[in-house]
Amino acid sequence: MKTGIIGALPEEIQFLLQELRHSGKKVTETRRGSMEFTEGEIRNNAVVVCRCGVGKVHAAMCAQILISEFGVTRIINTGAAGALDSRLSLFDIVVSTEAVQHDFNVTPFGYEPACIPGFNSPFFVADPDLREVAKKGFERVLANFPGGAPTPSIYEGRIATGDVFVAENSLRAEIVERFFPACVEMEGAAIAQVCATFGIPFVILRSISDLADNSADSTYDEYSEKVSVMSAMLIVEMLALLDT
Ligand code: ADE
Repeated sequence: MKTGIIGALPEEIQFLLQELRHSGKKVTETRRGSMEFTEGEIRNNAVVVCRCGVGKVHAAMCAQILISEFGVTRIINTGAAGALDSRLSLFDIVVSTEAVQHDFNVTPFGYEPACIPGFNSPFFVADPDLREVAKKGFERVLANFPGGAPTPSIYEGRIATGDVFVAENSLRAEIVERFFPACVEMEGAAIAQVCATFGIPFVILRSISDLADNSADSTYDEYSEKVSVMSAMLIVEMLALLDT
């Protein structure tokens, strides 16, 4: 098995690259356009870690390259997200049950909101085994959790993706009313669409950096780097549990 790991921004994959470089195993770096792919091992599991850039097109290109060129057999997406479920706090982790592109709309042609022609549902379903390993991995994260830092909780839920940073109460309310997601971000469901097309299992792990409300931009600026380490730490523990 080979695991593709996608983060949009350097801070979302920094912890994983450190693990990879300290593994003592061979590390290979490849560039494709603006994207960086780093191959190696984490916890004796073959990985390709990619920094794809922000948004759905970057994410889809990256997932495609991971599958076609690097031959990955599963994909994990990691990063920050804005909370839409009121139970979530900063630093908490959401494990995707499914992902939806909230900004996709061909309803004038009779499709339900966010349903992409060629698919029979707006929701791309995450792999049940990867979800289970994420929950087990989280127990290991907590067991080794450094004192002093805010202790995160883990939630499973729907993730909404769109090419927009949600920092407005009205847009937040619209997305919640339409799709009832746990959180919102800008890449996950695009990766999910590519994975669904090619039969590759995926899961999205997101750490809460803001509440996707009117002050989301300043909250994100303050917390995104710190919270991104949470989902990256979880991936390291998952790799220790996953088949090699
Ligand atoms: N990623 C982190 N916070 C976000 C937000 N509020 N909207 C979209 N993507 C995000």
